[in-house]
Amino acid sequence: MIRSVVRGSGAALPRRIMKNADFEGMVETSDEWIVQRTGIRQRHVAADDETTASLGEAAARAALESAGLTAADIDLIVLATSTPNNTFPATAVEIQNRLGMHHGFAFDMQAVCSGFVYAVATADLYIRGGLARRVLVIGSETFSRILDWNDRSTCVLFGDGAGALVLEAGEGAGSITDRGVLAASLRSDGTHKDKLFVDGGPSTTGTVGHLRMEGREVFKHAVGMITDVIEATFSQAGITAADLDWFVPHQANKRIIDASAKKLGIAEQKVVVTVDLHGNTSAASVPLALSVAVADGRIKKGDLVLLEAMGGGFTWGAVLVRW
Ligand code: ACO
Repeated sequence: MIRSVVRGSGAALPRRIMKNADFEGMVETSDEWIVQRTGIRQRHVAADDETTASLGEAAARAALESAGLTAADIDLIVLATSTPNNTFPATAVEIQNRLGMHHGFAFDMQAVCSGFVYAVATADLYIRGGLARRVLVIGSETFSRILDWNDRSTCVLFGDGAGALVLEAGEGAGSITDRGVLAASLRSDGTHKDKLFVDGGPSTTGTVGHLRMEGREVFKHAVGMITDVIEATFSQAGITAADLDWFVPHQANKRIIDASAKKLGIAEQKVVVTVDLHGNTSAASVPLALSVAVADGRIKKGDLVLLEAMGGGFTWGAVLVRW
Protein backbone atom coordinates (compact mmCIF):
# COMPACT_ATOMS: atom_id res chain seq x y z
CA MET A 1 0.00 0.00 0.00
CA ILE A 2 0.98 3.63 -0.52
CA ARG A 3 2.40 5.40 2.55
CA SER A 4 3.18 9.13 2.99
CA VAL A 5 6.80 9.02 4.11
CA VAL A 6 8.69 11.95 5.68
CA ARG A 7 11.60 12.83 3.41
CA GLY A 8 12.68 16.17 4.89
CA SER A 9 11.94 18.80 7.51
CA GLY A 10 12.85 22.41 8.16
CA ALA A 11 11.96 25.54 10.09
CA ALA A 12 12.33 29.31 10.13
CA LEU A 13 12.07 31.88 12.90
CA PRO A 14 11.92 35.68 12.88
CA ARG A 15 15.21 37.40 13.75
CA ARG A 16 13.91 39.19 16.87
CA ILE A 17 13.64 37.32 20.18
CA MET A 18 11.36 38.79 22.84
CA LYS A 19 12.07 37.61 26.41
CA ASN A 20 9.43 37.56 29.14
CA ALA A 21 11.18 40.46 30.86
CA ASP A 22 10.56 42.59 27.74
CA PHE A 23 6.82 42.59 28.61
CA GLU A 24 7.39 43.98 32.09
CA GLY A 25 7.30 47.60 30.97
CA MET A 26 4.33 47.04 28.61
CA VAL A 27 1.70 45.24 30.72
CA GLU A 28 1.41 44.24 34.38
CA THR A 29 3.17 40.88 34.31
CA SER A 30 6.41 39.19 35.32
CA ASP A 31 8.85 36.60 34.02
CA GLU A 32 7.99 34.49 37.07
CA TRP A 33 4.21 34.50 36.34
CA ILE A 34 4.70 33.60 32.67
CA VAL A 35 7.21 30.80 33.36
CA GLN A 36 5.19 29.32 36.21
CA ARG A 37 1.80 29.36 34.39
CA THR A 38 2.99 28.47 30.88
CA GLY A 39 6.65 27.37 30.73
CA ILE A 40 7.30 30.10 28.13
CA ARG A 41 10.62 31.99 28.46
CA GLN A 42 10.88 33.70 25.08
CA ARG A 43 9.22 33.92 21.65
CA HIS A 44 10.25 35.22 18.21
CA VAL A 45 8.38 38.24 16.85
CA ALA A 46 8.24 39.08 13.14
CA ALA A 47 9.54 42.41 11.81
CA ASP A 48 7.59 44.27 9.11
CA ASP A 49 9.51 42.47 6.35
CA GLU A 50 8.87 39.02 7.88
CA THR A 51 5.47 37.60 6.98
CA THR A 52 3.64 34.27 7.04
CA ALA A 53 4.64 33.87 3.38
CA SER A 54 8.34 34.72 3.88
CA LEU A 55 8.69 32.51 6.97
CA GLY A 56 6.78 29.71 5.24
CA GLU A 57 9.01 30.03 2.20
CA ALA A 58 12.17 29.84 4.36
CA ALA A 59 10.88 26.76 6.21
CA ALA A 60 9.91 25.13 2.89
CA ARG A 61 13.38 25.79 1.43
CA ALA A 62 15.00 24.25 4.53
CA ALA A 63 12.74 21.17 4.27
CA LEU A 64 13.48 20.80 0.53
CA GLU A 65 17.22 21.04 1.21
CA SER A 66 17.06 18.38 3.92
CA ALA A 67 15.09 16.16 1.50
CA GLY A 68 17.65 16.69 -1.27
CA LEU A 69 14.86 17.99 -3.52
CA THR A 70 13.87 21.23 -5.25
CA ALA A 71 10.48 22.87 -5.78
CA ALA A 72 10.39 21.20 -9.21
CA ASP A 73 9.92 17.86 -7.39
CA ILE A 74 6.84 19.01 -5.43
CA ASP A 75 3.28 18.77 -6.75
CA LEU A 76 1.23 20.08 -3.82
CA ILE A 77 1.71 22.67 -1.06
CA VAL A 78 -0.64 22.60 1.94
CA LEU A 79 -0.15 25.57 4.25
CA ALA A 80 -1.71 25.55 7.72
CA THR A 81 -2.21 29.11 8.94
CA SER A 82 -4.67 31.44 10.66
CA THR A 83 -2.60 34.51 9.83
CA PRO A 84 -2.45 34.58 6.01
CA ASN A 85 -0.69 37.45 4.22
CA ASN A 86 -4.01 38.43 2.62
CA THR A 87 -7.64 37.33 2.94
CA PHE A 88 -7.03 35.87 -0.51
CA PRO A 89 -5.30 34.50 -2.53
CA ALA A 90 -4.16 31.64 -0.34
CA THR A 91 -0.71 32.29 1.15
CA ALA A 92 0.21 28.78 -0.05
CA VAL A 93 -0.03 30.10 -3.62
CA GLU A 94 2.24 33.02 -2.71
CA ILE A 95 4.78 30.56 -1.26
CA GLN A 96 4.44 28.44 -4.42
CA ASN A 97 5.33 31.54 -6.49
CA ARG A 98 8.22 32.51 -4.17
CA LEU A 99 9.65 29.00 -4.66
CA GLY A 100 9.48 29.51 -8.44
CA MET A 101 6.99 26.66 -8.71
CA HIS A 102 4.46 27.11 -11.53
CA HIS A 103 3.08 23.59 -11.72
CA GLY A 104 0.96 21.54 -9.30
CA PHE A 105 -1.39 23.21 -6.82
CA ALA A 106 -1.42 24.88 -3.41
CA PHE A 107 -4.01 25.78 -0.79
CA ASP A 108 -4.34 27.02 2.81
CA MET A 109 -5.96 25.10 5.68
CA GLN A 110 -7.49 26.85 8.66
CA ALA A 111 -7.85 24.84 11.85
CA VAL A 112 -6.00 27.31 14.12
CA CYS A 113 -3.47 25.48 16.36
CA SER A 114 -4.57 22.09 14.99
CA GLY A 115 -3.84 23.27 11.45
CA PHE A 116 -0.59 21.36 10.97
CA VAL A 117 -2.07 18.07 12.22
CA TYR A 118 -5.06 18.59 9.89
CA ALA A 119 -2.66 19.43 7.03
CA VAL A 120 -0.54 16.29 7.50
CA ALA A 121 -3.68 14.13 7.59
CA THR A 122 -4.96 15.88 4.44
CA ALA A 123 -1.67 15.60 2.55
CA ASP A 124 -1.60 11.89 3.44
CA LEU A 125 -5.01 11.43 1.79
CA TYR A 126 -3.92 13.30 -1.37
CA ILE A 127 -0.85 11.05 -1.60
CA ARG A 128 -2.71 7.81 -0.89
CA GLY A 129 -5.49 8.90 -3.29
CA GLY A 130 -2.91 9.33 -6.06
CA LEU A 131 -3.48 13.09 -6.54
CA ALA A 132 0.04 14.02 -5.42
CA ARG A 133 3.39 12.26 -5.04
CA ARG A 134 5.38 14.81 -3.07
CA VAL A 135 3.78 17.36 -0.78
CA LEU A 136 5.21 20.30 1.14
CA VAL A 137 3.21 20.56 4.37
CA ILE A 138 3.88 23.90 6.04
CA GLY A 139 2.70 25.54 9.25
CA SER A 140 3.46 29.26 9.30
CA GLU A 141 2.12 31.99 11.56
CA THR A 142 2.55 35.63 12.49
CA PHE A 143 0.25 35.72 15.54
CA SER A 144 2.01 38.89 16.73
CA ARG A 145 -0.11 40.72 14.11
CA ILE A 146 -3.43 39.65 15.68
CA LEU A 147 -2.50 40.09 19.34
CA ASP A 148 -3.93 42.82 21.55
CA TRP A 149 -0.61 44.02 22.99
CA ASN A 150 -2.46 45.64 25.92
CA ASP A 151 -4.06 42.34 27.01
CA ARG A 152 -1.65 40.61 29.37
CA SER A 153 -3.75 37.45 29.45
CA THR A 154 -2.99 36.72 25.76
CA CYS A 155 -0.08 38.82 24.46
CA VAL A 156 2.56 36.96 26.49
CA LEU A 157 1.50 33.53 25.19
CA PHE A 158 2.10 33.60 21.43
CA GLY A 159 4.99 33.81 18.99
CA ASP A 160 5.78 33.75 15.26
CA GLY A 161 7.53 31.12 13.14
CA ALA A 162 7.21 28.38 10.55
CA GLY A 163 8.01 24.70 10.06
CA ALA A 164 7.65 22.32 7.13
CA LEU A 165 7.78 18.67 6.14
CA VAL A 166 8.21 17.03 2.75
CA LEU A 167 5.95 13.98 2.49
CA GLU A 168 6.58 11.54 -0.34
CA ALA A 169 4.68 8.50 -1.65
CA GLY A 170 6.41 5.26 -0.64
CA GLU A 171 5.55 1.56 -0.63
CA GLY A 172 4.45 -0.01 2.63
CA ALA A 173 3.31 -3.47 3.69
CA GLY A 174 0.30 -2.04 5.52
CA SER A 175 1.77 -2.81 8.92
CA ILE A 176 2.83 -0.75 11.92
CA THR A 177 6.49 -1.21 10.96
CA ASP A 178 5.99 0.78 7.70
CA ARG A 179 7.58 4.21 7.49
CA GLY A 180 5.14 7.10 6.95
CA VAL A 181 1.78 8.28 8.28
CA LEU A 182 0.17 5.29 10.02
CA ALA A 183 -2.98 6.66 11.65
CA ALA A 184 -4.84 9.94 12.17
CA SER A 185 -7.88 11.19 14.11
CA LEU A 186 -9.36 14.66 13.65
CA ARG A 187 -12.14 16.36 15.64
CA SER A 188 -13.90 19.70 15.91
CA ASP A 189 -16.80 21.11 17.93
CA GLY A 190 -18.11 24.61 17.24
CA THR A 191 -19.99 24.79 20.55
CA HIS A 192 -16.73 26.18 21.88
CA LYS A 193 -16.19 28.81 19.16
CA ASP A 194 -16.41 31.78 21.56
CA LYS A 195 -13.74 30.51 23.97
CA LEU A 196 -10.86 31.22 21.60
CA PHE A 197 -11.44 33.42 18.56
CA VAL A 198 -10.42 36.54 16.64
CA ASP A 199 -12.94 39.39 16.92
CA GLY A 200 -12.78 40.44 13.27
CA GLY A 201 -13.10 39.04 9.79
CA PRO A 202 -13.89 39.94 6.17
CA SER A 203 -17.58 38.98 6.37
CA THR A 204 -18.36 40.55 9.75
CA THR A 205 -16.33 43.59 10.76
CA GLY A 206 -14.28 43.99 7.61
CA THR A 207 -11.21 44.18 9.86
CA VAL A 208 -8.54 41.65 10.81
CA GLY A 209 -9.40 41.74 14.53
CA HIS A 210 -7.61 40.61 17.68
CA LEU A 211 -7.25 37.27 19.42
CA ARG A 212 -9.57 36.77 22.41
CA MET A 213 -9.38 33.81 24.76
CA GLU A 214 -11.00 32.49 27.90
CA GLY A 215 -7.76 30.83 28.97
CA ARG A 216 -9.17 28.96 31.95
CA GLU A 217 -12.00 27.48 29.81
CA VAL A 218 -9.54 26.37 27.11
CA PHE A 219 -7.33 24.78 29.75
CA LYS A 220 -10.30 22.95 31.28
CA HIS A 221 -11.15 21.17 28.00
CA ALA A 222 -7.64 20.72 26.58
CA VAL A 223 -6.35 17.67 28.43
CA GLY A 224 -9.53 15.59 28.02
CA MET A 225 -9.84 16.36 24.31
CA ILE A 226 -6.17 15.71 23.60
CA THR A 227 -6.09 12.39 25.44
CA ASP A 228 -9.37 11.20 23.80
CA VAL A 229 -8.11 11.78 20.28
CA ILE A 230 -4.74 10.21 21.04
CA GLU A 231 -6.38 7.11 22.50
CA ALA A 232 -8.50 6.86 19.32
CA THR A 233 -5.29 7.05 17.26
CA PHE A 234 -3.58 4.40 19.41
CA SER A 235 -6.50 2.00 18.97
CA GLN A 236 -6.61 2.66 15.19
CA ALA A 237 -2.93 1.68 14.99
CA GLY A 238 -3.15 -1.11 17.59
CA ILE A 239 -0.43 0.38 19.80
CA THR A 240 -0.04 1.72 23.33
CA ALA A 241 1.89 4.67 24.77
CA ALA A 242 4.79 2.30 25.53
CA ASP A 243 5.37 1.75 21.77
CA LEU A 244 6.04 5.45 21.12
CA ASP A 245 9.54 6.81 20.67
CA TRP A 246 8.52 10.50 20.69
CA PHE A 247 5.49 12.58 21.63
CA VAL A 248 5.48 15.95 19.83
CA PRO A 249 2.49 17.90 21.17
CA HIS A 250 1.20 21.36 20.27
CA GLN A 251 3.26 23.81 22.30
CA ALA A 252 0.67 26.01 24.04
CA ASN A 253 1.40 25.48 27.70
CA LYS A 254 3.85 23.23 29.55
CA ARG A 255 1.20 22.37 32.14
CA ILE A 256 -1.18 21.08 29.42
CA ILE A 257 1.65 19.06 27.84
CA ASP A 258 2.69 17.53 31.18
CA ALA A 259 -0.87 16.70 32.24
CA SER A 260 -1.67 15.08 28.87
CA ALA A 261 1.52 12.98 28.85
CA LYS A 262 0.89 11.87 32.44
CA LYS A 263 -2.73 10.88 31.75
CA LEU A 264 -1.63 8.88 28.68
CA GLY A 265 1.29 7.23 30.49
CA ILE A 266 3.90 8.70 28.14
CA ALA A 267 7.30 8.89 29.83
CA GLU A 268 8.61 12.43 30.38
CA GLN A 269 11.85 11.78 28.45
CA LYS A 270 9.83 10.98 25.30
CA VAL A 271 8.08 14.37 25.26
CA VAL A 272 9.48 17.09 22.96
CA VAL A 273 9.04 20.51 24.59
CA THR A 274 9.91 23.78 22.82
CA VAL A 275 7.26 26.07 24.31
CA ASP A 276 10.03 27.66 26.41
CA LEU A 277 11.82 28.80 23.22
CA HIS A 278 8.97 29.65 20.84
CA GLY A 279 5.81 30.30 22.90
CA ASN A 280 2.59 29.20 21.22
CA THR A 281 3.12 29.53 17.45
CA SER A 282 -0.25 27.94 16.62
CA ALA A 283 -0.04 25.87 13.40
CA ALA A 284 3.75 26.29 13.34
CA SER A 285 4.32 24.83 16.81
CA VAL A 286 4.36 21.11 15.95
CA PRO A 287 6.66 21.39 12.88
CA LEU A 288 8.95 23.78 14.80
CA ALA A 289 9.19 21.27 17.66
CA LEU A 290 9.80 18.47 15.14
CA SER A 291 12.61 20.37 13.48
CA VAL A 292 14.33 20.98 16.83
CA ALA A 293 14.14 17.29 17.78
CA VAL A 294 15.31 16.17 14.32
CA ALA A 295 18.19 18.67 14.29
CA ASP A 296 19.46 17.63 17.75
CA GLY A 297 19.35 13.95 16.76
CA ARG A 298 16.49 12.82 19.01
CA ILE A 299 14.05 11.89 16.20
CA LYS A 300 15.67 9.37 13.84
CA LYS A 301 14.57 7.36 10.84
CA GLY A 302 12.31 4.52 11.95
CA ASP A 303 11.16 6.20 15.20
CA LEU A 304 7.45 6.11 16.06
CA VAL A 305 6.33 9.73 16.53
CA LEU A 306 2.97 10.99 17.75
CA LEU A 307 1.87 14.52 16.76
CA GLU A 308 -1.02 16.18 18.56
CA ALA A 309 -2.73 19.59 18.65
CA MET A 310 -5.78 21.38 20.00
CA GLY A 311 -6.95 24.90 19.25
CA GLY A 312 -9.64 27.44 18.40
CA GLY A 313 -13.00 26.10 17.23
CA PHE A 314 -12.36 23.91 19.14
CA THR A 315 -10.40 21.72 16.75
CA TRP A 316 -8.16 18.89 17.83
CA GLY A 317 -6.39 15.89 16.37
CA ALA A 318 -3.48 13.45 16.39
CA VAL A 319 -1.30 11.83 13.74
CA LEU A 320 0.98 8.82 14.19
CA VAL A 321 4.06 8.72 11.93
CA ARG A 322 6.93 6.30 11.61
CA TRP A 323 9.80 8.66 10.77
N1 ACO B 1 0.70 38.23 34.07
C1 ACO B 1 0.28 38.31 35.33
N2 ACO B 1 -0.97 37.98 35.69
C2 ACO B 1 -1.80 37.55 34.73
C3 ACO B 1 -1.41 37.47 33.39
C4 ACO B 1 -0.09 37.82 33.06
N3 ACO B 1 0.41 37.77 31.83
N4 ACO B 1 -2.44 37.01 32.65
C5 ACO B 1 -3.46 36.83 33.50
N5 ACO B 1 -3.09 37.15 34.76
C6 ACO B 1 -3.86 37.10 35.99
C7 ACO B 1 -5.35 37.09 35.74
O1 ACO B 1 -5.85 38.39 35.52
C8 ACO B 1 -5.85 36.47 37.01
O2 ACO B 1 -5.91 37.47 38.00
P1 ACO B 1 -7.14 37.49 39.06
O3 ACO B 1 -7.01 36.20 39.80
O4 ACO B 1 -6.84 38.71 39.86
O5 ACO B 1 -8.37 37.58 38.23
C9 ACO B 1 -4.75 35.50 37.42
O6 ACO B 1 -3.60 35.90 36.66
C10 ACO B 1 -5.08 34.05 37.12
O7 ACO B 1 -5.61 33.99 35.79
P2 ACO B 1 -6.05 32.64 35.13
O8 ACO B 1 -6.53 32.92 33.76
O9 ACO B 1 -6.96 31.90 36.07
O10 ACO B 1 -4.65 31.90 35.11
P3 ACO B 1 -4.35 30.44 34.67
O11 ACO B 1 -3.60 29.76 35.73
O12 ACO B 1 -5.55 29.76 34.10
O13 ACO B 1 -3.31 30.67 33.48
C11 ACO B 1 -3.34 30.68 31.08
C12 ACO B 1 -3.71 31.41 32.35
C13 ACO B 1 -1.83 30.55 31.03
C14 ACO B 1 -3.84 31.45 29.88
C15 ACO B 1 -3.97 29.27 31.12
O14 ACO B 1 -5.32 29.36 31.40
C16 ACO B 1 -3.81 28.54 29.81
O15 ACO B 1 -2.71 28.19 29.43
N6 ACO B 1 -4.92 28.24 29.15
C17 ACO B 1 -4.89 27.52 27.91
C18 ACO B 1 -4.45 28.45 26.84
C19 ACO B 1 -4.10 27.73 25.61
O16 ACO B 1 -3.61 26.64 25.62
N7 ACO B 1 -4.37 28.41 24.53
C20 ACO B 1 -3.97 27.97 23.30
C21 ACO B 1 -4.89 27.00 22.70
S1 ACO B 1 -4.34 26.77 21.15
C22 ACO B 1 -4.94 27.93 20.07
O17 ACO B 1 -5.78 27.58 19.27
C23 ACO B 1 -4.45 29.34 20.04
